[in-house]
Amino acid sequence: MNTFEVFKLYPIAIESAKGMELTDTEGKKYLDLYGGHGVISIGHCQEDYVKGLKAQLDKIGFYSNSVRIPFQEELAVKLQKLSGYDDYKLFLVNSGAEANENALKLASFYTNRSKVIAFRKAFHGRTSLAVAVTDSPAIQAPINKTDKVLWADLNDIESVKAVMDNDVAAVIIEGIQGVGGVKIPTDDFLRQLRELCTANGSLLIVDEIQCGYGRTGKFFYHQYSGIKADIISMAKGIANGFPVGAIMINPEIPAKFGMLGTTFGGNHLGCMAAILTADVMMKNNYVANAAKMGDYLFGKLKGHKAIKDLRGKGLMVGIETVADAAEIRNKLLFDEHIFTGFSGGVNTIRLIPPLCITEKEIDRFVEAFDKVTNNA
Ligand SMILES: Cc1ncc(COP(=O)(O)O)c(C=O)c1O
Repeated sequence: MNTFEVFKLYPIAIESAKGMELTDTEGKKYLDLYGGHGVISIGHCQEDYVKGLKAQLDKIGFYSNSVRIPFQEELAVKLQKLSGYDDYKLFLVNSGAEANENALKLASFYTNRSKVIAFRKAFHGRTSLAVAVTDSPAIQAPINKTDKVLWADLNDIESVKAVMDNDVAAVIIEGIQGVGGVKIPTDDFLRQLRELCTANGSLLIVDEIQCGYGRTGKFFYHQYSGIKADIISMAKGIANGFPVGAIMINPEIPAKFGMLGTTFGGNHLGCMAAILTADVMMKNNYVANAAKMGDYLFGKLKGHKAIKDLRGKGLMVGIETVADAAEIRNKLLFDEHIFTGFSGGVNTIRLIPPLCITEKEIDRFVEAFDKVTNNA
């Protein structure tokens, strides 16, 4: 049987990894500034993480939510500490799309309303509701198309007001648009959005799946604006590669038995992966490191003549290049052995590296970027 080919693949197979480095089947080493799509937060094969997961596997890997899984409570306390969201509730799932799916469904249950406002260029995942609020017609099948989603423009509060009505259950927004090209909502816009949602009885869902978990130098990007969301969705970095997703939920939203559910979500091994990741994050203060290393990288790239626009915060970096970004990215990978990400629509190289990055690796990237853009 062959695989169903929906991914455009690089002709590289990764065999092992450590920290910021990947090694392929031919023994070639690569610097990982992509983290497998922003997933690797504490570095590949981090020692405590590997040791803890192995030990957990020897005890129990899985049981379902029909029994109490105390690790879920332990994880909730750690996420509370990391995020500062003191009294929120935690619901665990298996991916980013599933987190958004549950966030939207919960908002609809709670408000008894059926519409949602989303933003142009947004990406929220590929399952039915998540893809319906994703602004990418090419990945929406006819069955996903719905008139329940109303579209507005990022940083244009009037465009949100224009479509807001009393059947809007929620507004969903990425903390920073990732796939859309590292586009940032302003603090003022987020505050206005918060006020508008409250006034209209709609929930504010912030998707922190790519930009959250410490990546921008605060645990969640929207915390720079001082607002609180009603539901926050997370995934990617939360368990350093183990498939875990989560939503954090405003305590005013009551839980009812059966309203949400999952077979795999919150299982022993997944929780342990997230607990170990949180422990390593806290021990090494990686949120602060993301802020520091982000400043260092932005300082190095500012004013670079090959860059048309430099966007982002901390370790979520969008480099819109003057020349073709896809070509620069290929040279970075095949000539300089550096993995980066990409946002094709806006000619932007996207860096979403592990949060344990150091100045040494940033210097290596800047040197390589100089070289491939001929700025040496
Ligand atoms: C902001 C955002 N939301 C949701 C998702 C979907 O996450 P997953 O691929 O885990 O379903 C992604 C994935 O790239 C994302 O970047």
